[in-house]
Amino acid sequence: MMSLLTKLLGWVDERFPLTSTWKAHVSEYYAPKNFNMWYFFGGLALLVFVIQIVSGIFLTMNYKPDALFAFASVEYIMRDVQWGWLLRYIHSTGASMFFIVIYLHMFRGLIYGSYRKPRELLWIIGMIIYLALMGEAFMGYLLPWGQMSFWGAQVIVNLFSSVPFVGPDLAILIRGDFVVSDITLNRFFALHVVAIPLILVLIIVAHLVALHEVGSNNPDGIEIKKNIGANGHPVDGIPFFPYMVVKDAVAAVAFLIVFAAIIFFGPDMGGYFLEYNNFVPANPMKTPEHIAPVWYFTPYYAILRAVPPLFGSQFPGVVAMGVATVIFFALPWLDRGQVKSIRYRGPIYKAFLAAFVVSFVGLGYLGLMPATELYTWISRVLAVIYFAFFFLMPWYTKIDKCKPEPDRLTSK
Ligand code: HEM
Repeated sequence: MMSLLTKLLGWVDERFPLTSTWKAHVSEYYAPKNFNMWYFFGGLALLVFVIQIVSGIFLTMNYKPDALFAFASVEYIMRDVQWGWLLRYIHSTGASMFFIVIYLHMFRGLIYGSYRKPRELLWIIGMIIYLALMGEAFMGYLLPWGQMSFWGAQVIVNLFSSVPFVGPDLAILIRGDFVVSDITLNRFFALHVVAIPLILVLIIVAHLVALHEVGSNNPDGIEIKKNIGANGHPVDGIPFFPYMVVKDAVAAVAFLIVFAAIIFFGPDMGGYFLEYNNFVPANPMKTPEHIAPVWYFTPYYAILRAVPPLFGSQFPGVVAMGVATVIFFALPWLDRGQVKSIRYRGPIYKAFLAAFVVSFVGLGYLGLMPATELYTWISRVLAVIYFAFFFLMPWYTKIDKCKPEPDRLTSK
């Protein structure tokens, strides 16, 4: 039996680089041996992506992308399709869990300077994934055709019409109509189910190729490739398979326990994962009293609302929101610190990073709340802190007093 399998593998290897790819990217890919829990989230993002694709395929079998039937087809999935409720809750919980995992994954980049040379392109590809993911979530949210689906899309697409000169045409191009309608639902369905997932697959592969080209960073922020042993491999690295695969598997089990607990005991998470207003069918004649996006968009939504309109146009807020999202692209060039990891950074970077986290979480909370005068003013203060973290970075990272980096990885 074994020799048959060996022969089969030999036959394949002569025609396709199977064993050599496995070796180069898995069994002989050397990862830093001091990976900590922050390094779980890339693998978990991959896991959630697969969960979303598989649950999405099964949902599509019973969902109808038609303004007349969409809401009822989701109810049909929830009540009549066998295990339909489970599929839908897996997919809706998966969307929020995706963003939790991605935000933690990105935060790891901030604390260990993973975006710095030579990983700038890896970071940029990551940011493109993040934007694609936002588009994917936004379009997916229209599909149940509930009140929040409809009015959320209405508000966000209308923002594009504030762009000078081309705005109104741009909004019509996105909607395919003068208002959010059946046509919008159809095109969002096509993009959510086919186009963006396809793009995501391609850029996730590019992300991993770029990662394996430069190698992983680590909690010490020093390059293990600078210290190669007699066997030609980094002395501070260990093979990804089996060591890191086993470690990641433990994280995957812990993650799936939390995931299942949410699905079975609180799939709407008190209205944060599934908004209550979205259990009401879309009604173009009745605007809900309070329109708020799902939590993962609310930091940016709060920034949008914090900026006052100019001559009645919301454009300045839209620009602030756009800049707040894409400014992460510039991080590799904004950071002038002598070291990468927070372990060896000085107090100023740590203070700015802490303030940034407070501003991001605070804005996220305020974006969920009604825009009262007090909340708007707090949002303004937090938005200033948010932007200060980025715009002042070239200055404060340069003057910060860093500690010396070690030559080899520390095993803390
Ligand atoms: C579907 C989304 C994503 C998937 C599946 C994914 C997957 C991965 C995996 C498997 C790793 C290696 C394991 C790890 O370091 O955690 C990784 C590393 C990395 N990712 Fe992602 N990623 C995604 C999104 C992002 C985003 C949005 C960013 C940043 C904007 C990003 C930036 C990075 C960086 C900088 C590294 C190297 C980190 C280091 O070595 O310290 N990724 N990614």
